[in-house]
Amino acid sequence: MSKKVLITGGAGYIGAHTVDALVRSGYTPIIVDDFRNSNPSVIQGLSKLIGFEPVFFKIDICDKKALKEVFTKHEINAVIHFAAFKAVGESVLEPLKYYQNNLIGLLNILECMEVFGVNEFVFSSSCTVYGEPDSIKEVNEKTPKQLPSSPYGYTKWMAEQIIADYAKAHSSFKVICLRYFNPIGAHPGGLIGELPIGKPNNLLPFITQTAIGKHSKLLVFGNDYPTIDGTCIRDYIHVMDLADAHIKAVEAFGNNSIGSCEYINVGTGKGTSVLQMIQAFEEVSGTKLPWEFAPRRPGDVIEIYANVDLAKSMLNWEVQFSYKDAIKDAWNWELSNQKKNR
Ligand code: UFG
Repeated sequence: MSKKVLITGGAGYIGAHTVDALVRSGYTPIIVDDFRNSNPSVIQGLSKLIGFEPVFFKIDICDKKALKEVFTKHEINAVIHFAAFKAVGESVLEPLKYYQNNLIGLLNILECMEVFGVNEFVFSSSCTVYGEPDSIKEVNEKTPKQLPSSPYGYTKWMAEQIIADYAKAHSSFKVICLRYFNPIGAHPGGLIGELPIGKPNNLLPFITQTAIGKHSKLLVFGNDYPTIDGTCIRDYIHVMDLADAHIKAVEAFGNNSIGSCEYINVGTGKGTSVLQMIQAFEEVSGTKLPWEFAPRRPGDVIEIYANVDLAKSMLNWEVQFSYKDAIKDAWNWELSNQKKNR
């Protein structure tokens, strides 16, 4: 019988792409989402993509009773936990909202897993736990963690600690914390992609929305950083590759070399600056992007990219797509949304 995987936040950006990847790999997804940061249309797009309507529960994971019912109704074999708020700036303004949702949600999931004896857990962590790297910008999993600069960062940082403590106390439990770098792109089939609510905070959705005319121009935050062209450098990874890393993580639980609590970077291993992203967008889309420099955005890390050796050796995972592929798919997604909304 196919393994049942609970996906919290399965209607979200990374969650939905992972549901598709799970189905393609023969798993049965059980989706939990309350659409507070996603859109019901995602479930429709997903259904078209996977060829059936996935099992879906519209519940808030902070509602422990409702969450327990999902575990009662379905014999869950593994959990992939995405459901969390993720806007850095918003978390500074509304810290309680972030601690409440991101930490209570996690505690409820772990409690249900404990009660129902579910022992395989994949957690969405973030490269935010590394803070601003000192001199070496390529970080590996041994690079010391630093205290985060936002409540959002603290929720990921604390979540890793909570999970580690839980793993220590439960010998049959196994967890892989995937530390995401910057996910971008959309499904190449154009049926699912990122749907930011309100004005996007992240670079690529802002670029595609500006190019399609939703904003007058992109502001490039900072031009005087000590980098190749003065703008910040990130490791942009195609969401399809990131989704695939979750499948490899679920598969790895069957492997004896996996320890009880692993942390694995998920990036491409390459850094790209904001100006390089703009140039690549113009090249790939054939569209001129209006943009101008603006002051630095407070809290921005200057330069960071992943060392991905551990993902290769432990998960047998490697990226299949380049950042230009991701830009192309994100642009197609923006264009297909424009058609739908006409
Ligand atoms: N940027 C702009 N203009 C914009 C948006 C972004 O110049 O309108 C720049 C930022 O200043 C930064 C780069 O584009 O230099 C990337 O910014 P994003 O907001 O896309 O991504 P971040 O790296 O800031 O944040 C991401 C995730 C967070 C996570 C963080 C970890 O969104 O959830 O990585 O480093 F915490």
